[in-house]
Amino acid sequence: MADMTVLFTGLRFKTPVVVASGTFGFGREYSEFFDLSLLGGICVKGLTIKERLGNPPPRIAETPMGILNSVGLQNPGVDAFIAHELPFLRQYNTNIIANISGNTVEEYCLLAEKLSDAKVDMLEVNISCPNIKRGGMAFGTSCDSAALVTREVKKHASIPVMVKLSPNVTDIAEIACAAEEAGADAISLINTLLGMKINIETMKPVLHNNTGGLSGPAVLPIAVRMVCQVANAVKIPILGMGGISRGEDAVEMLLAGADIISVGTALFTDPAAPIKVTQGIKDFLVRKNIASVTELTRRVKLN
Ligand SMILES: Cc1cc2nc3c(=O)[nH]c(=O)nc-3n(C[C@H](O)[C@H](O)[C@H](O)COP(=O)(O)O)c2cc1C
Repeated sequence: MADMTVLFTGLRFKTPVVVASGTFGFGREYSEFFDLSLLGGICVKGLTIKERLGNPPPRIAETPMGILNSVGLQNPGVDAFIAHELPFLRQYNTNIIANISGNTVEEYCLLAEKLSDAKVDMLEVNISCPNIKRGGMAFGTSCDSAALVTREVKKHASIPVMVKLSPNVTDIAEIACAAEEAGADAISLINTLLGMKINIETMKPVLHNNTGGLSGPAVLPIAVRMVCQVANAVKIPILGMGGISRGEDAVEMLLAGADIISVGTALFTDPAAPIKVTQGIKDFLVRKNIASVTELTRRVKLN
């Protein structure tokens, strides 16, 4: 049997397979399909200070090999999460990662404090949110604002801080370095890529919001490329995601430079996808006679 455990920011992951924020809710629905303790970790839906209803429908559209979503940050708010959802998740022996979203640095910091006190295992800071104090430009699109939010969140967190990068930038490695220098314990990538779909009969965008984030198998090669670039630029560990639906996809992401990986959109067509991806990685390790999954990380042989 190959060893599937990974130490990531000092936390033990029993497998390198996590579920991606926004694609697993707070785990209740999926707990009817499999034992959540089989997962390395659960990244919960993006949390905000106050409850949010998200964007108006239609907010999901199918595309070739993926989906566009403009769900927005629908969630019950951080206090309701801590009171009602965290106790449910704590029944399972897995790492709980809280994904946080703010419109100001102060909001991110308050979320970091509350969730540290509630003893979730790790924070994932979604920096793809608009910075309302700087004209709505996403925090993750400039080195300065990515570093600012990372540095301030670190001051308010007593648990590991992972910064989740937006792929909608010119040079993702530069943003990763800014987060690392500001004290991030880990990097996760990629969030969704901005896209648009038009209904040719009505000549209107399909999504109410006009644009949305693209995810699913279509984005896998972009995510693999970006993880490889970031792995060559930073020393901190990486959670790689984007388009993973099979064990082979996960192996690619690990070889590119990820220490652990997430399954997201694949859950919508197969709720057991993370379990199958886990088995697929195990089978690969056995077939290649590799003793530990950690041996795959950053092992790509670039030409
Ligand atoms: C419906 C939906 C909701 C999402 N919500 C969030 C979110 O709240 N916070 C976040 O950081 N990422 C969110 N994401 C992005 C995913 O966590 C992931 O980064 C992205 O979908 C790429 O992985 P995938 O192709 O495996 O889905 C969401 C994605 C989808 C499809």
